[in-house]
Amino acid sequence: DMASRAPLFLLVICFCCCSGHAKSAFIKVVCDTTITGQVAHQSMLTCKVETTQEIPDLNIAVVVWKKPGDDQFLSALDRRLPPGYKVTLNDRTVSLVITDPKVKDEGVYSCLVMTDSGNAETTTHFKVTAKYEAPSVDSIDEKVVPNAHKSLICKATGGYPEGKLRWFDEWTKSAEPTIVNQTEDGLLEISSKLPLMKLSTSDEYTCVVYNASDGKEGSATIRTAVSRHPSVFVSIDVAHSVMTSIIAPVLVIGSLIVGLLLALLICRRRSQQKNRRPSTAPLMAHSNRSTY
Ligand SMILES: *[C@@H]1O[C@H](CO)[C@@H](O)[C@H](O)[C@H]1NC(C)=O
Ligand SMILES: *[C@@H]1O[C@H](CO)[C@@H](O)[C@H](O)[C@H]1NC(C)=O
Repeated sequence: DMASRAPLFLLVICFCCCSGHAKSAFIKVVCDTTITGQVAHQSMLTCKVETTQEIPDLNIAVVVWKKPGDDQFLSALDRRLPPGYKVTLNDRTVSLVITDPKVKDEGVYSCLVMTDSGNAETTTHFKVTAKYEAPSVDSIDEKVVPNAHKSLICKATGGYPEGKLRWFDEWTKSAEPTIVNQTEDGLLEISSKLPLMKLSTSDEYTCVVYNASDGKEGSATIRTAVSRHPSVFVSIDVAHSVMTSIIAPVLVIGSLIVGLLLALLICRRRSQQKNRRPSTAPLMAHSNRSTY
């Protein structure tokens, strides 16, 4: 193993000694500042060797890709690249192929090129993204949040970088902040809890997952079973308030009407008494006494 690495070590020592002196004014390595790949989709970091003056027979002797913080040197000379990486040199284009990018491959890569006209080095930032899987929504009994007896948990996994979850219903504001967990492969699991309040009248809750650049990646909607339960409470609550709000005016208006009718009745009797008084005065006098 050491023997196979020996050429690489020599190479590295050579760079350490010479790169400072041999940096050429004629040679440049030009890469995109940022290259974005997708997890599990082959990516290629590509740079071009450019010269500031015509050098028709430029000979690129060595290409070394290096990821600082990672002791891995990826050289065109090294026949034993770690699995999953390839270094290619095609005319003046140098590339690092990452066959199965993972979150851990993210970072800054430097590309060092040694030619017979001098050396040059530059860096490029490799970023990865992964699409979140369709979210799932489950309900749990809520024991922590006051005035809530159920909570909905929305969870989306397998994405990168950090995305967002949003709830769509009329009680969106009660959703708790998104929790982020990183799995072993670096991918993220994000989840959000939506406590269902007793007064909640919504029958349908939708959880939408957005990627880091606010692109919608998936959604899940939950109905019935979960929201039925609070709905029953809601209808009782509503019915109660409706009843009190109806009964109170009915009582007021009702007693007014009864009072009015009584008053009318009395007036009518009085006028009847007046009309009848000449003929039936003794009788009415008697009944008056007994009635009032
Ligand atoms: C995050 O990880 C913790 C500890 O491993 C675990 O208890 C929790 O349920 C995880 N959260 C989510 C949203 O999966
Ligand atoms: C987010 O999603 C949009 C639309 O699907 C896509 O164009 C964009 O590249 C995605 N961004 C990330 C960081 O995944």
